[in-house]
Amino acid sequence: MTQPDPIEALRALEQEALERISQADDPDALERVRVAYLGRKEGRVSEILRGLGQMPSDVRPRVGQEANRVKQEIEGALEVREGEVSTAVGGAFGDLTLPAREPWRGGIHPITQAVDEIWKIFRGLGFTRARGPEADTEWYNFEALNTPLDHPAADEQDTLYLVDSVLLRSHTSPVQMRTMERHEPPIRILAPGWVYRRDTYDATHTPAFMQIEGLVIDEGVTFVDFKATLAEFARRYWGPDTQVRFRPSFFPFTEPSAEIDVKRVITRPDGSREETDWLEIMGAGMVDPAVIENAGHDPERYTGWAFGMGAARIAMLKHGVGDLRTFFENDVRFLGQFAS
Ligand code: DAH
Repeated sequence: MTQPDPIEALRALEQEALERISQADDPDALERVRVAYLGRKEGRVSEILRGLGQMPSDVRPRVGQEANRVKQEIEGALEVREGEVSTAVGGAFGDLTLPAREPWRGGIHPITQAVDEIWKIFRGLGFTRARGPEADTEWYNFEALNTPLDHPAADEQDTLYLVDSVLLRSHTSPVQMRTMERHEPPIRILAPGWVYRRDTYDATHTPAFMQIEGLVIDEGVTFVDFKATLAEFARRYWGPDTQVRFRPSFFPFTEPSAEIDVKRVITRPDGSREETDWLEIMGAGMVDPAVIENAGHDPERYTGWAFGMGAARIAMLKHGVGDLRTFFENDVRFLGQFAS
């Protein structure tokens, strides 16, 4: 039986492989051709190379040389064809006509931005930042602030109790007491923080929200300081034409108490100017002497004023956002508008 000439066999394989390569039109088809001819186990050219050792020594070098040439030829053709099929639209690199993907941009949450901006203004007015615990006692949250426990705010309907007399603070006002206990006046603090209430989650309520407390205690502090400082804050935050209104109100820890409204002047893109309605921004008042006394200071010597405002409310007014929930749903299409 005559063995087929190995050189002839190699050339036939080469023709066959090149033919299949030219017809392949996707990367998978090319991979199948590569495996069929050059694959380590079953590749037909590889098989001949493996059999070299059993060949008579006089033909071995020629067959070896030819087998390597054919192998290189096939590899070269595979590479060229791979380049052709993968650069076609819809090939291995996808649709090259698509616009590039934008790099990810992180940003500061709009509520945090509001806190930062408000903080910068109060820092400029001589305030220090303070904080207190989110889980606090009935004493700090209510009683020390002159609020008896039979007050509606202390009811389980409104406040989230953890155990007996420990609760999630329903406002940042307990930071007033905790600060006054530890520091001798003069005190000027701004205390932003999360507060919790048993509220339904809707367009104007969230069971957790960011509140910003302010407190000033010193000798000789009057209603004039109170009014002038908050009016100055409003003008720095919303612009020099902003008007401020103090409406009589009631809070157990202030006397007198006020709710503070602002009226802003908006400049339209065409240059015309328009006044907004009065918008409520905070509760405030002169600190009740009983509160100063509860903190261990002499209410005859010291007087002061305080306020509490919702950071999300300020951010809503600033950006014209109509639904509080959008701040908490973490939809990047919304939040991305505040990333600068
Ligand atoms: N703690 C009040 C609330 O959560 C807000 C407030 C009103 C804070 C008057 C004050 C204040 O410091 O003086 O509704």
